[in-house]
Amino acid sequence: MGILHTSIRVGGMVVRNRLYRAPVLEGAGSGPDAAEVYARQFVANAEAGVGLIIQGSSCVLEEGRTSPGMSVVASREQVMGLAPMVDDVHRAGAQIVLQLGHGGIFAMEAWHEPYASSRQGPLLAASPVPWFLRPSFAGVPVHVMTTQEVHDLARRFGMVAAWARHAGYDGVQLGSANAKLLDQFLSPFYNHRTDDFGGSLRNRARILEVIRREVSDQAGDDYPCLVKVPCETALPLTRRTTFVEALELARIAEEAGFDAVTPVNVSVFPDTTLSRGGVPNSLWRNPSMKARLRKAAPSPVRRATIVAGSYLGGRRAPFRPVWNRELFTAVKRQVAVPVLAVGGIRTAGEVNEILDGGNADMVGIGRPFYAEPDLSARILGGDPGPRLCRNSNLCVPAQMLGMKGTCYNPAVRRAARPHA
Ligand SMILES: Cc1cc2nc3c(=O)[nH]c(=O)nc-3n(C[C@H](O)[C@H](O)[C@H](O)COP(=O)(O)O)c2cc1C
Repeated sequence: MGILHTSIRVGGMVVRNRLYRAPVLEGAGSGPDAAEVYARQFVANAEAGVGLIIQGSSCVLEEGRTSPGMSVVASREQVMGLAPMVDDVHRAGAQIVLQLGHGGIFAMEAWHEPYASSRQGPLLAASPVPWFLRPSFAGVPVHVMTTQEVHDLARRFGMVAAWARHAGYDGVQLGSANAKLLDQFLSPFYNHRTDDFGGSLRNRARILEVIRREVSDQAGDDYPCLVKVPCETALPLTRRTTFVEALELARIAEEAGFDAVTPVNVSVFPDTTLSRGGVPNSLWRNPSMKARLRKAAPSPVRRATIVAGSYLGGRRAPFRPVWNRELFTAVKRQVAVPVLAVGGIRTAGEVNEILDGGNADMVGIGRPFYAEPDLSARILGGDPGPRLCRNSNLCVPAQMLGMKGTCYNPAVRRAARPHA
């Protein structure tokens, strides 16, 4: 039996095997049916054998979501409302971790008109918005967080982790990549602070350390807390988190007490570098998506920025099988805590090679779960080939505009349900 089928301990959590569902937004929102929407996907995944589910990012504050379908976990009631789904996942044998995040300057209140106009407060930022992004932030209030507010935010992460524990979640993961608020602190592209949270890599990473402490203090020392470690690409001549810094960041995370790290290559912009593949052209080709985008971003400047960002991000980041291999393999050599691999992993062969080669401790798959809820059974059964997902990235604009988390590639949908 290969490593894939063996259990693993991540902090205080034991997972039955090494396969996890990577966080991909489910579009469950925060309404009374949120638990049911999550359960529809997650229970099927668990019944098909997946070891761990990392739920897509949920927002720790009322404002700061990056899409309308992202759940808000800003109150105990909102988190406890998800408890029945967590129980169902456990009954089906899998563990479940809640990813916590905030969009920072890329929160939908910046550009999604219905939410922008009902915005209660300014967008939260590590530092002022870079000058070349300012035209698309015209009229959007941005607040650079004070040192005290960063500590308050860390306390909020700790509090939400404590609620997550009460709801039965097996742990939390910090959504600290993909150009979201925590990444905006980690990245020298955005972070120009002069307090304890800016400057050197160690200082920029301090936000992770203070959050980790708060999670321990409020949810318990033994409550698993996982973290994503970004390695960035950026514009020429601009600063970014480099490969070497990402390795150092992983070491800092381990030292700070994180129970597992997920290293990922991402852009400094929130584009499809995080899910390499096709250009998400439905934004300008599909009439109903175009209409949704026009409603969300009536300003032509903002709309042009979103379309250009989607196009360029997609063009600059074509799909490559297992594209984070070099990064997660290098991180694995640096740290003793479990390393979670993700990014373009599609076949049982790739999964087994990563695990049996000692390049990572768990292997995650994201988008393919949208079209194949029972994907784990195939992977655990040794299926040799990639099947339905074509990495078209058509799921990306859909979730950005608040549609549910599912596959939007017509060819894949037809192949998934040939007789429908
Ligand atoms: C529509 C969509 C939503 C995503 N949402 C999240 C998220 O909430 N948090 C996160 O850390 N990563 C998110 N990701 C990134 C995935 O977790 C994963 O790293 C990426 O899709 C690459 O893995 P894959 O090739 O197996 O899909 C998302 C990706 C997609 C396509």
